[in-house]
Amino acid sequence: MTVDVAPRPEQTGSRRPRARTYLMCRPDHFEVSYSINPWMDLGVPVDRERAIAQWEEIRRVYLELGHQVETVEPAAGLPDMVFAANGGIVHGGRAMAAHFTHDERKAEGELYRRWFEQAGMTPAVTATNLNEGEGDFLYVGGRFLAGTGFRTSLAAHAEVAEFFGVPVTSLTLVDPRLYHLDTALTVLNDETIAYYPAAFDPASQEILRTLFPDAVIATEADAAVLGLNAVSDGYHVVLSAAATDLIAALRERGFHPIGVDTSELNKAGGSAKCCTLEIGR
Ligand code: ARG
Repeated sequence: MTVDVAPRPEQTGSRRPRARTYLMCRPDHFEVSYSINPWMDLGVPVDRERAIAQWEEIRRVYLELGHQVETVEPAAGLPDMVFAANGGIVHGGRAMAAHFTHDERKAEGELYRRWFEQAGMTPAVTATNLNEGEGDFLYVGGRFLAGTGFRTSLAAHAEVAEFFGVPVTSLTLVDPRLYHLDTALTVLNDETIAYYPAAFDPASQEILRTLFPDAVIATEADAAVLGLNAVSDGYHVVLSAAATDLIAALRERGFHPIGVDTSELNKAGGSAKCCTLEIGR
């Protein structure tokens, strides 16, 4: 389901969309054949055709909003490769490919690194420390917010700060269902985020309160449908249509939420943002 994607600049108020470039990977080999997060239930069948249709819809929405979408070739035997956000971090023309925590995903790192290299990013390196890319590193207003606790290591936070020359603020995730930063927090624009406080330890909650006093606070129901796994261009916010509280809160705050059905992708623990790596920044 998609709601009203036509840009309506007259209604943007202080919110301004900015054209983005995204990297995506079609879920041609999508399945749940191993379980590395609580969403992945080997007993629940996955409909790959539906997953592809849901992915195509996300891509179509981006294109309709005027964004550019690049794609990386999906590889057989790597069912989670659809989650391009985990492929690495791209910033200022430099790229750091992921160093995955689980053996099942490790081979994706080099495929993403090669893509960055052929796209002209220099240098295009592989992270030394455990690092799941934009799944755990979100850029906002001159800094990276970085998640740790389940996947990306604290050492990776320091490595990213050094490589990109950008300050990194470390945040500790505590809820196994919200195992990547991008499942618990969405960057809405250079000043504002949305997040679910209970996904973070008390010290990290305090940091977020201080840095973002007017953040949109998501509900448990939003988090439980991976609603925070959302993609904002500064005005339009593409997210799971099931995140009804968050959709209402975003509208209230002058954003333009666009709900998409990500139910098949949710079975692997992902939604819209997991499928999307921002590369133009
Ligand atoms: N099955 C994948 C994993 O557990 C899902 C990754 C979701 N990606 C994300 N950016 N949160 O690694």
